[in-house]
Amino acid sequence: MPDRPRVVVTRRLPQAVEAALSERFDVSLNPADAPFSRTQLVEAFAEADALLTTVGDPVTAQTLGEAPRARMVANFAVGVNNIDLEACRARGMAVSNTPGVLTDATADIAMALILTIMRRCGEGERMVRADAWQGWAPTQLLGRDLRGRTLGIVGMGRIGQATARRAHHGFGMNIVYHNRSEVETDLPARALGLEALMETADVVSIHCPGGEANRGLISAGLIGRMKPEAYLVNTARGDVVDEPALIAALEAGRIAGAGLDVYAREPEVPEALRRLENVALLPHLGSATEETRNAMGFKCVENLEAFFAGRELPDRVV
Ligand code: DGY
Repeated sequence: MPDRPRVVVTRRLPQAVEAALSERFDVSLNPADAPFSRTQLVEAFAEADALLTTVGDPVTAQTLGEAPRARMVANFAVGVNNIDLEACRARGMAVSNTPGVLTDATADIAMALILTIMRRCGEGERMVRADAWQGWAPTQLLGRDLRGRTLGIVGMGRIGQATARRAHHGFGMNIVYHNRSEVETDLPARALGLEALMETADVVSIHCPGGEANRGLISAGLIGRMKPEAYLVNTARGDVVDEPALIAALEAGRIAGAGLDVYAREPEVPEALRRLENVALLPHLGSATEETRNAMGFKCVENLEAFFAGRELPDRVV
């Protein structure tokens, strides 16, 4: 059908989502799943009515071009730090994201990282795989109990609260949090300034958005305030943490360890991090379940449909 809106999809998506897109739009899929180059993005903005982009696709003034044909970006992620929102606004372009549907999956991964670093699961797994385990021993790979320890949540939005709920109700942790605006929560949780949170928490877990507003928020100075036996966990965006400062603190043993799902320059993971035993490293798996990725895809479909039907976007960012 020639009059169907043209939608370019930058990465491979779950099968059901690609099928739904193909039914509704004149869609260009990416079965090879190779990330788009900047040139491909510029071309796509010039030839499509909308783009379905995701983490790692830089939607910048440069890739948008001066007079893009595209009028909408449906971002397959809740985070929109890959998108220059001002540049989109200036070109009258709508932007949507996928809030709500990845809360539980991401909170689960934050808990997985907390458990992995505090109970030394990564070290144990590497020992078994290397065939270096010589049997049970009373002093082998002793970790720390979660119960009674304090989790400090930076960014008490949906995912921050879901992580706090798991940690408190499931693992007996006490909760403190820092959030820019006031938060209503049914959890027994104490709001703290960021410096006080860094000084108080046994585990600091980052859940605030990435991008310009929070770049380097967890600075060398704040990392320096953490207790020597504390851990840092990041399932939000790598650019929120001063990565070199974190590496320096870990190398010097100034903090106990870190659990990371995100990095400053993905997919690059600094070798210094990969060398450290007390660090758990995941490849940005926060939302990586079949159910969640399907739900994220269908959110994109809904937003694209609303846009082309002239309805308000359910998940409008711009
Ligand atoms: C997001 O949605 O922002 C995640 O980082 C990818 O699921």
